[in-house]
Amino acid sequence: MHKNLDDIRQEFLNFFKKKGHEIVASSTLIPDNDQTLLFTNSGMNQFKNIFLGIDQPLFKRVTTAQRCVRAGGKHNDLDNVGYTARHLTFFEMLGNFSFGDYFKHEAIQFAWELLTDCNWFNLSKNKLWVTVHICDSASYDIWTKQVDIPNEHVIKIGNNTDNFYDSDNFWQMGKVGPCGPCSEIFYDYGDRFQGGPPGSLKEFGERYVEIWNLVFIQFNRQSNGNLLSLPMLSVDTGMGLERITAILQGVHSSYSIDIFKKLISSISQIIKVNDDNTNRSLYVIADHIRTCSFLIQDGVLPSNEGRGYVLRRIIRRAILHGKKIGTNNIFFYKLVSPLIKYMQYLSDRLYEKKDFIEKILLNEEKLFEDTLKKGLKLLEKKLVLLKGNVLNGEIAFDLYDTYGFPLELTKDICLKRGIHVDQANFDQSMLTQKKIAKESNKFYVISKNISLCNVLNTFVGYRDLTCRTQTIALFRINKPVNKIYAEEEGIVILKNTPFYGESGGQIGDSGQLKTISSLFQVTSTKKYGEIIGHLGVVNRGAISVGEEIIAQVDQYKRKNISLNHSATHLLRAALCQVLGSHIVQKGSLVNDQYLRFDFCHYETMTEVQINTVENLVNKQIWINFPIVADMIPIETAKNSGVVMLINKQYEKIVRVIRMGNFSTELCGGTHAKSTGEIGVFIITKEFSIASGIRRIEAVTNNTALSVMHQYKKLLQDIFTSTQSDNKNILNKIHEFKSRCQKLEKEIKHLRNQQVIQESLSFIKEIYYIKDVQVLIKQVENMMLKPLTNLIDCLKRQLKSGVIVLINNKNNKISIVVSVTKDLIENNRINALNLVRLIINTLGGKGGGKPHFAQVGINNIINTSKISTKIDYLLQNIL
Ligand code: SER
Repeated sequence: MHKNLDDIRQEFLNFFKKKGHEIVASSTLIPDNDQTLLFTNSGMNQFKNIFLGIDQPLFKRVTTAQRCVRAGGKHNDLDNVGYTARHLTFFEMLGNFSFGDYFKHEAIQFAWELLTDCNWFNLSKNKLWVTVHICDSASYDIWTKQVDIPNEHVIKIGNNTDNFYDSDNFWQMGKVGPCGPCSEIFYDYGDRFQGGPPGSLKEFGERYVEIWNLVFIQFNRQSNGNLLSLPMLSVDTGMGLERITAILQGVHSSYSIDIFKKLISSISQIIKVNDDNTNRSLYVIADHIRTCSFLIQDGVLPSNEGRGYVLRRIIRRAILHGKKIGTNNIFFYKLVSPLIKYMQYLSDRLYEKKDFIEKILLNEEKLFEDTLKKGLKLLEKKLVLLKGNVLNGEIAFDLYDTYGFPLELTKDICLKRGIHVDQANFDQSMLTQKKIAKESNKFYVISKNISLCNVLNTFVGYRDLTCRTQTIALFRINKPVNKIYAEEEGIVILKNTPFYGESGGQIGDSGQLKTISSLFQVTSTKKYGEIIGHLGVVNRGAISVGEEIIAQVDQYKRKNISLNHSATHLLRAALCQVLGSHIVQKGSLVNDQYLRFDFCHYETMTEVQINTVENLVNKQIWINFPIVADMIPIETAKNSGVVMLINKQYEKIVRVIRMGNFSTELCGGTHAKSTGEIGVFIITKEFSIASGIRRIEAVTNNTALSVMHQYKKLLQDIFTSTQSDNKNILNKIHEFKSRCQKLEKEIKHLRNQQVIQESLSFIKEIYYIKDVQVLIKQVENMMLKPLTNLIDCLKRQLKSGVIVLINNKNNKISIVVSVTKDLIENNRINALNLVRLIINTLGGKGGGKPHFAQVGINNIINTSKISTKIDYLLQNIL
């Protein structure tokens, strides 16, 4: 009997445990404190700082089964999924690691023993091939002299360019970070499959599959490409669990291993298509439901940037593959259940978050359906009006950019109608957009200039709002200057500053910088790296570099900002209590007017939930907890469960803000002294800003009071104008509404009557062109609805014929054409064809269906000629 995937994982870990390795849990898919990586893409990511010598290892030998995603960034397999037998975007990487302990010899011996020993994986030695880096003679010697692999199965791989790190046998984590030469182990599936050994011309076939990569970490790659030697030599290995399982289960494709077989069979039942083992779309969907569920589990949500954007693309790709094989129903979220059932080892946490994951996927799928509908409608419009058989690539780009409409889909739809999409044009639009995005990043330029000025200023504004200090650099129009003169705008860098630099959602302070003869009005502040810049204008005199000045923060504004910031902490803690622990901050804004807090939650908050949150926050305000700021080591903060942002890089010592036992959060912002100072807290709005993300806006203290005053006044005005009071206002409104509805109904009835009367008078003007009854008539200022009513009425009386109404509305002409069914069926005439002819003759834009079509014309000078022209067209085609 074949071993199942869970057994194989366990066997790998047991083997290395026996060899003195500590089994360490997989880290999450969101790399902890690493801005250089989109997703965890290898077992070594969680040990990056150990390899670099920054952190000390707890164990010198470690083994893991790491969940990885390769979709975006340096290692990206998204486009291969479904098209090769082995690529997956989500997979588990089995690895053994040595941190300055063993090196090449043991790493190679361990790998060989596990793969070939009859007590372990027991693979035939003749089936294994290995590659080594051309400069790595040590590894070559170990393989050829100390391991019983056929020598011709050991292949040296050269460099792609002059750089020895530019080789398939040199592994790099990303553009920067740990790296080194590697030795890869391949399995030969035999001559049933096409392809040659690694390094040969035919290496890209499916016969030889890479199963294990042994990396000998020696360098730290810098962003300029330089390789710095690391103080210790380490080992990082990675074997694809799904690939080794395929081999041990005697199948060729990762999609044919036990868990995928079961998953794919469930998927084909849910979306009701045949699972015939060749359905690549089913592979893609199976792969993507794993990736998406685990990404959401680990805290990624669909959005328009960064990780969220990649997730959104994967979800959409899966849905489009569903459509490709014929499902028009919403299906993707339904796949979470079978996934949990079959991924036993990994499914505990998935199960905990099942409802949440399903809701996010469902929302996203609905959203995409809407988007597709809108895009389709637009494309349809463009295609109706298209002259010739080439669609401008700009239109395809617009659909892609605005509606997320993949180019492939546009191409498919066009292809069905014999239309071709101009790809060059599409690529050009894409390029232009990227250029614009780059150019608009001016902040980057100034930021770079300021960071380069090599200064550091100290923020003293937690305690002092005024201080005597010195200007150390000045900038005007992005360039360093020695002086800023009256009326000129600029940026001032001070030695010490009481001004808070805009960050962490809190806006910067404003205030003044003064000397005896000059005054610089600070309107805002920004952080450039660690440097705080004061942005503003010189109101009086001039300021120079090196001058002594008094820096004075606007106290009133600062106070209001601080109250709102403290209230944001209370709000977050209250949301967690009321809605659940899945509440993760997705953004925030704190200024002197209000506070805004974005968080992930899958549905609208109910009125009761909003009130409960509001009450809970106000309760903490009235308890009047002191607000305490402590500096503590990051590890202590992590261990004591302090709220912090996921994926943010924190210093070793961090600032923690505590409000009684209600809220403890990492924060560099400014705060009230005690919760009581906030006075009162009122939520003014709760709404959705993106799928799965909600926003709360709230006010505190004086602003809360003035918001209440505004509401009171508004209510009073309503009472006065409706002659009501708070007891009968709702009845009054209902009364108004039903009266309005009654009146609208009456008006509609009267209009219809009027239309019928008018139509009776039109009947006289019907004439024949050949044997077809034709009515061409000018009408004035009619809205679309009465116009279509009029047409219906005329059609009823005409029974068979063509009706053309020329509506002159505010000097815009719209021509409406209607044709009765019998004429369409007999191929006598079709409204859309007539409209196309009208457009060719008179210009304008329009479209429609065979029985009803219309065209709008803007620049008509002589309307009276239109009837004659249409009559002429009809004479020709009837
Ligand atoms: N880091 C290497 C890889 O991902 C080995 O684990 O291939």
